[in-house]
Amino acid sequence: MLGELVSEIVLVDIQIEKTEGEVMDMNHGVSFVAPVKITAGTYSDAKGSDMVIITAGASQKKGEKRIDLLKRNTAIFKSIVDELMKYCRDDTIILVVTNPVDIMAYITYKLSGFSKNHIIGSGTVLDTSRLKYMISEHTNIDARNVHTYIIGEHGDTEVAAWSVTNIAGVSIDDYCSICKGCEVQNIEKNKLLQMTKDSAYEIIERKGATYYAVALAVRRIVECIIGNENSILTVSSLFNGQYGIDDVFLSVPTLVNAKGADRILEVPFSDKEISDLKKSASTIKGLIRDIGF
Ligand code: LAC
Repeated sequence: MLGELVSEIVLVDIQIEKTEGEVMDMNHGVSFVAPVKITAGTYSDAKGSDMVIITAGASQKKGEKRIDLLKRNTAIFKSIVDELMKYCRDDTIILVVTNPVDIMAYITYKLSGFSKNHIIGSGTVLDTSRLKYMISEHTNIDARNVHTYIIGEHGDTEVAAWSVTNIAGVSIDDYCSICKGCEVQNIEKNKLLQMTKDSAYEIIERKGATYYAVALAVRRIVECIIGNENSILTVSSLFNGQYGIDDVFLSVPTLVNAKGADRILEVPFSDKEISDLKKSASTIKGLIRDIGF
């Protein structure tokens, strides 16, 4: 709604009264944004939808990892996807946000039979923004001018692509020599990556869940698709041999446009980063096997 990207939003949730309350609350603000129709609906509304965004599921409690949600959310997804498939057109794009998002996106792909481009996970779009923020705070440079990626799992095995991280085209290692007073040492890199990985835990510990940055990440992905932008985002999409990885959803720089996750760009990361990406892939694939997919 705040992104003023779409003409209609339908909210669907098992808690019907809460959904009606959300819809009322949002509609009372419509006069402040571009015209948009917001209603409480049912799965049948997916029939007329260009995009379906799935955020439903159990969420992390204090001390829980995203992976701990796997069994509960797999069961929830089986019911959601079965319903959606009754109504979705085969050109509908499904954006999965529910955690563990890489596995939930894979499950949606397997259960829906949709083309691989049309199933996208929000992946590490949020994590990449978190690392940009951490580097921005450290260097006092606008986060929009910090170019970096978090790749792999949206979770504890995620990897920082330091080898392609730069500010104004200057690699993060060389940047310190041209910028007095900022020392992004190796130890700092590890610290910045750990702070990125721990962000959700820290927030959940304090306020119970994360809302705003993940909502902005979702808005950015929707904007790319609706606007057929050909932008590069670290959404989670199906690997078919890229970096020697196959049959798993993970995040790397990916071309996003009206077709969805159009194409994975095989950025020449360092050998260590690719090795860590493969470790992330094998962790996720092992969990996918454990739940029988
Ligand atoms: C987070 C949730 C969206 O990282 O996994 O905030």
